[in-house]
Amino acid sequence: MIQIHDRDEVERIRESAQIVGRCLRMLSTEIRPGTTTLDLDRLAEEFIRDSGGEPAFKGYRGYPASICTSVNEEVVHGIPSAKRVLREGDIVSLDIGVKRKGFFGDAARTYPVGEVTAAATKLMDATARALEAGIERSRAGRRVSDISAAIEREATRAGFRVVRALVGHGIGRELHEEPQVPNYGRPGEGPKLEEGMVLAIEPMVNAGTADVLTLSDQWTVVTADRKLSAHFEHTVAITANGPMVLSRVEAD
Ligand code: MF3
Ligand code: CO
Repeated sequence: MIQIHDRDEVERIRESAQIVGRCLRMLSTEIRPGTTTLDLDRLAEEFIRDSGGEPAFKGYRGYPASICTSVNEEVVHGIPSAKRVLREGDIVSLDIGVKRKGFFGDAARTYPVGEVTAAATKLMDATARALEAGIERSRAGRRVSDISAAIEREATRAGFRVVRALVGHGIGRELHEEPQVPNYGRPGEGPKLEEGMVLAIEPMVNAGTADVLTLSDQWTVVTADRKLSAHFEHTVAITANGPMVLSRVEAD
């Protein structure tokens, strides 16, 4: 069953999602050669707790850190480590969840470390555009797969492939709620979108094959061909006035 949230509930989700958005913005200023992914995790946890929230991923199904930090061929769920030093030319995806006053927010974004290749920039830009295309279709009366199809179209138009093994999701009182929001598919299918639904829309886009594997740490998802991957995510409410991007912050 898909949860319908009233305006107060959407506002609570927005407050959590705003902490996520501000945390991403703060971390983006710390991304440079020499920063470790554990540095980013520590800064994020401090920021989230100072903001009155809890890092939602910590302990989730045994996940050992506060945020996910996925470098280059890592798609999602990279575990922060003092040994993982960011280097010039890397791309790093930061995925953050916050719980506050019983409601969750979730967002992610891929950043360049110093100067990166034109190919890496193209991949990040296409993934960001795919997310925006999905957000634009997040309207009452449309169907979930209208979002999916718009994302896939934008990514494939740029010559890339969307990951099929992982999907977006409803969000609210739980981190993961119904419905699933795939990043591929034909339009006009799946549940009808209604005012009060809140979705975490999260395209994961690969430079090469769509196939992914999980490493022996049981978390880190990598591309099967070890080519680059990017991940952008927003928490989005379906409202009478169209899509409301709850995790968007200024200068985002
Ligand atoms: N943002 C991810 C998602 O939407 C959550 C990471 S899984 C966790 O599924 F275990 F790290 F929390
Ligand atoms: Co998510």
